[in-house]
Amino acid sequence: MKKTKPIEKNAKIVNKYLKIKLKGNPKMLYDAAGHLIVNGGKRLRPYMVIKSCQILGGRISNAMPAASAVEMVHNFTLVHDDIMDNDEMRHGVPTVHKKFGMPVAILAGDVLFSKAFQIISDSKLSGSAMTQLISRLATACVDVCEGQLFDIKMAEGKKIPSQSEYIKMIGKKTAALFDVSCAMGAICATNKITDIKNLSTFGKNLGIAFQITDDLIGVMGDPKITKKPVGNDLREGKKSLPILMAIKSAKGKNKQIILKAFGNQKTSKSDLHKAVEVIRALGIEDSVRNQAEKYAERAEKSLSKYSGSSKNQLVELLEFVVKRSR
Ligand code: IPE
Ligand code: IPE
Ligand code: MG
Ligand code: MG
Repeated sequence: MKKTKPIEKNAKIVNKYLKIKLKGNPKMLYDAAGHLIVNGGKRLRPYMVIKSCQILGGRISNAMPAASAVEMVHNFTLVHDDIMDNDEMRHGVPTVHKKFGMPVAILAGDVLFSKAFQIISDSKLSGSAMTQLISRLATACVDVCEGQLFDIKMAEGKKIPSQSEYIKMIGKKTAALFDVSCAMGAICATNKITDIKNLSTFGKNLGIAFQITDDLIGVMGDPKITKKPVGNDLREGKKSLPILMAIKSAKGKNKQIILKAFGNQKTSKSDLHKAVEVIRALGIEDSVRNQAEKYAERAEKSLSKYSGSSKNQLVELLEFVVKRSR
């Protein structure tokens, strides 16, 4: 499914803003910080900030600092995530540590993280809104770090986590940033607690649906579309929902093929490829997508009292997220 048009339209506005903010010296540091941004990305989180502001009657100009900040935080997490996950390609180009080396990649992530907070602090928002944005974004960053460690520890461990442990992990590593994107957008429009809560709940559930789908395309997606390699989660021993489902449903020789590649960083390309083909043939896609759908439905419920074009666009975003292949 294609990206919806309004997402692209918003992405262009956000890109202009990011380009201005990501200039400086040493040039190499800023090139590294902007590397993934200039080479792709869907800009889903800034879109959520903007639409969550607009659904409550707020202006897009008020949401821009938070929208750009969250995209910077997101990119900070991607740069560091690719180091942790030993990933060499993203957006169809070498990852930041592969292209610029480890020290520059770590610093590029740190710059993105710091600039995010600088942008919000320099904005013209009221003092109380600004404090809330900073506090919520900081909390979300802490959640991402906790979630990322859960992810790494689960991958290292032999234990097969329950579905609720997996949901808890992705709730932190991914959905926290979706949640805060919507909450920040709402805060840029209103100080009504119930509205902020509704949008935050929407973002959280959308984020969970998003990561479930992401994990599916990470194990059986088409790298030409996703622009990132398939099978790396398997090689790294990631306990993602589709991998857990695949291990559970595979039998005999097929199970052996999956287990041979699972968590084996030395696995050959051809063994990894075989495992991916076995998983593709298992027919687990529908059950995984159904799980994502469940969270998408929960997300939609939290918008039930709203109407108008921004509401429709957020609902369309839900559909894009659960049906996507990129
Ligand atoms: C990738 O997120 C990281 C995850 C949370 C799975 P996106 O798919 O939104 O990243 P972009 O679009 O490449 O920036
Ligand atoms: C997603 O990580 C969460 C963060 C980046 C914080 P993943 O490792 O699951 O996502 P991809 O597959 O690298 O994009
Ligand atoms: Mg990763
Ligand atoms: Mg990761």
